[in-house]
Amino acid sequence: MTFSLNDIPDLSGKTAIVTGSTAGIGKVCAFELARKNCYVIVACRNQTKGDAVVKEIQEQTGNKRVECIILDLSSLASVKKFSETILTTFDKIDILLNNAGLLDVPFQLTEDGIETMFATNHVGPFYLTLELLPLLIKSNAGRIVNVASMLHAMTTLTGVDFEKISDEKNYNGKTHYAKTKVANILFTYELTRRLKEKGINNVYVNCNHPGAIKTDPYYQGGLLKKGSFIDSITNLYFISVEKGALTQLYLATSPDIEQKDIKGQYYVPIAKCGSSNGFSKSKENATKLWNITENILKEKIPGGNYVEDRI
Ligand SMILES: NC(=O)c1ccc[n+]([C@@H]2O[C@H](COP(=O)([O-])OP(=O)(O)OC[C@H]3O[C@@H](n4cnc5c(N)ncnc54)[C@H](OP(=O)(O)O)[C@@H]3O)[C@@H](O)[C@H]2O)c1
Repeated sequence: MTFSLNDIPDLSGKTAIVTGSTAGIGKVCAFELARKNCYVIVACRNQTKGDAVVKEIQEQTGNKRVECIILDLSSLASVKKFSETILTTFDKIDILLNNAGLLDVPFQLTEDGIETMFATNHVGPFYLTLELLPLLIKSNAGRIVNVASMLHAMTTLTGVDFEKISDEKNYNGKTHYAKTKVANILFTYELTRRLKEKGINNVYVNCNHPGAIKTDPYYQGGLLKKGSFIDSITNLYFISVEKGALTQLYLATSPDIEQKDIKGQYYVPIAKCGSSNGFSKSKENATKLWNITENILKEKIPGGNYVEDRI
């Protein structure tokens, strides 16, 4: 299987939300969707950065149907506000690219009292996805792509106690990242099962590992030093950010997804069906994570109006 930017079909009439599109892989995805005439919502937490990206995309692609709407995934109030704006402005959403993510940050609780990486990488995207599901169902073929990581496989060794995920005790940024990424995969599989049970067949939920790409977190987190010996030899292993965007662009846009009914799958570079670890395949783990996340939302959403059973 190969997939290149040229294989992205014309997306006129489609609307996509790309989270984390101010930098890295998400920015490339926003560009390429806009280039193919998609209406693109740059969902980001920083207005100045978002406006700059919108301007850049509009100028370079000629597509003016690109806008920035503020979304801070670490804040349930922000996710709620963003979703309300989308629900009142758009009739349908065709692509939700849950790409934003944090890697290996020091322990900190969000304003909602949730560990920051878990809040940003899992709880926020979970809430966002369920809020927007009615609009994805209104699309002919709604696509949800959850960007995970091959590092989820570390949970084979560490396991995950989701009940204690926001505890500072024994917190380690690297293994914690893996736990949030296995959560992306568990969510993908469980949402697919639940949609199927409800007879909703026109929403395609998949997840992926984009590849190893030297985006900012590798340098900011001190994993690598720019220009160092290790930086240059690791270039042999890393792929470009453009290549790193391809697998999620495939899941978000390729006609294959409907034609081959690709749902509830984990994809790896480039656009290949992969296999996630045993922990992620456990229905018991998926149900547990789903229930824990719903309980967090019921307890913490401002105004307390989380609606269960929306699918
Ligand atoms: N790079 C890799 O090798 C690799 C490998 C496997 C998986 N991934 C996954 O790929 C995805 C993209 O990674 P990347 O390497 O492109 O990272 P990146 O360059 O650091 O970009 C991350 C994006 O997420 C946004 N973001 C962070 N926290 C946010 C929040 N609270 N609310 C909204 N947006 C937020 C950032 O916004 P700001 O600009 O405001 O910071 C930025 O736009 C992540 O999910 C990551 O886990 C990456």
